[in-house]
Amino acid sequence: MILNNKMKIINIATTTFDDQKPGTSGLRKKVNVFQQSHYLENFVQSIFNVATELKGGLLILGGDGRYYNAHAIQIILKMAAANGVKQVMVGENGLLSTPAVSCLIRKYKAAGGIVLSASHNPGGVNGDFGIKFNIANGGPAPTSFTDATYEISKRLAEYQIADADDIPLDRQHSCQMGEMKIDVIDSVSDYADLMEQLFDFNKIRTMFTSGWLEMCFDAMHAVTGPYAREIFSKRLSANVDALINSIPLEDFGGGHPDPNLAHAKELVSRLNSGPGAPGFGAASDGDGDRNMIIGQNFFVNPSDSLAIMTANAHLLPGYKQGICGVARSLPTSRAVDKVAEVLGIDCYETPTGWKYFGNLLDDKRITLCGEESFGSGSDHIREKDGIWAVLFWLNLIAVKQQSVEEITREHWKKYGRHYYTRHDYEAIDSDAAEALMQNLRDQSNSLAENEYSGYKVLLSDDFSYTDPVDNSITENQGIRILFDDESRIVFRLSGTGTEGATLRVYIEKYETDASQHNLPVQTALTELIDIANSIAEIKSRCNRDQPDVIT
Ligand code: G1P
Ligand code: ZN
Repeated sequence: MILNNKMKIINIATTTFDDQKPGTSGLRKKVNVFQQSHYLENFVQSIFNVATELKGGLLILGGDGRYYNAHAIQIILKMAAANGVKQVMVGENGLLSTPAVSCLIRKYKAAGGIVLSASHNPGGVNGDFGIKFNIANGGPAPTSFTDATYEISKRLAEYQIADADDIPLDRQHSCQMGEMKIDVIDSVSDYADLMEQLFDFNKIRTMFTSGWLEMCFDAMHAVTGPYAREIFSKRLSANVDALINSIPLEDFGGGHPDPNLAHAKELVSRLNSGPGAPGFGAASDGDGDRNMIIGQNFFVNPSDSLAIMTANAHLLPGYKQGICGVARSLPTSRAVDKVAEVLGIDCYETPTGWKYFGNLLDDKRITLCGEESFGSGSDHIREKDGIWAVLFWLNLIAVKQQSVEEITREHWKKYGRHYYTRHDYEAIDSDAAEALMQNLRDQSNSLAENEYSGYKVLLSDDFSYTDPVDNSITENQGIRILFDDESRIVFRLSGTGTEGATLRVYIEKYETDASQHNLPVQTALTELIDIANSIAEIKSRCNRDQPDVIT
């Protein structure tokens, strides 16, 4: 036992867990897994052991408010004090969105940040919990870091924790825990200030106060409620009924805080309620990094959203100097590639997960980036950013004086439309899923030249990525099949699930003829959907007739 400014630091002997390998975005498990004795502590100690820069440094700490958030924060504060962290800034009520953590790390030059969230996964006692570490650039820790924490977690023998009282989090204040300073800070203001620097708040405000546009934002009872109140209601004077589900709840009101057409039902029905309906709708997920944008009876596919942002960024104050390049994850549609071609800028294709964008942003190779999974962002931070995307669209609407649908259709007319869908088969048997992927891998080199219902395969492989900045190589990131008419199918297994395996099948088809831009998406893609099923033998191997979720 060591005495640190009269505070006892205790070394607790522990036994290891073999399942603490972080996935696409941190360590995610059922709450009851995290509730096992020492489980959370072991993982946190593994982080402190790898991130030695936290010793004597500043740590940003907060989460999406889900069940176990408040408990985990008290433990992490005590472990931070015991591991020599100099100062921790923690969000009021333990709340910080993922983008706000990234913003705070950068603004206050923190050594890193810990975000407690399982993103869009359900919460509550029977739901999921998660923990992510972000490095000093504000972005998710790279694979080399998460691999190192995993290795340590497999042989950890003890962890350090301070014998201290819990810290009240329900008000802003500063205090000491031994030699460590703790600031319980406003969760919103720094982030909201950054948004004001990027977008024309006056123009957006006028659009609302003149009555030209009404909006509806669904916070899904997750972390963005307080952010939306400050930004949309207070700073932008949006209509009084602009916010729904804006009180963060530990179980997200029993809902699934995933901003898509299936889970943001209330929002969708408001927008589709006929005359008098708001003209703009948006939602964000558990930790505030995802976004969905909709108009009246109109859905903007996230891949299209990235392309539209890229084509129009120069119209907004924060991006008026133009953008230097863009990046999208492998499964994201190639709509943005078309824009990059016209703009004469580089377009990078990365594996799934935000961490692969960090080097490209730091090296100033890209300004914007995004994923099909309702994520987009820019060089303002190192995470995807839900509220930022909403503001981007609001600012664009204010500049163009066009509806969401008009902006999107005009874009398709100019660049062509990428019909796009993702089919998810959830909680399937892990061995069957692995076997399906292995079968695809085995076939992939021999598919070229094959023809399926008139679609000829140009190229097929298991995607591997060489980071152009640090030359690190990431392999086996998904089977992609490219056809000669620019259609494409991608297969991969999810890295964020907590039950069995989830197979994701991504299907797209490029259409330049504007008279063909009005088909229902699933209809436009019928043949390719059948081709995907037959090449991968999904139905027989997974024992499923239909996908569980279609986005
Ligand atoms: C999913 C998305 C991916 C996103 C990640 C974290 O990962 O597909 O784009 O970065 O969540 O939000 P997956 O479950 O597919 O591994
Ligand atoms: Zn998220």
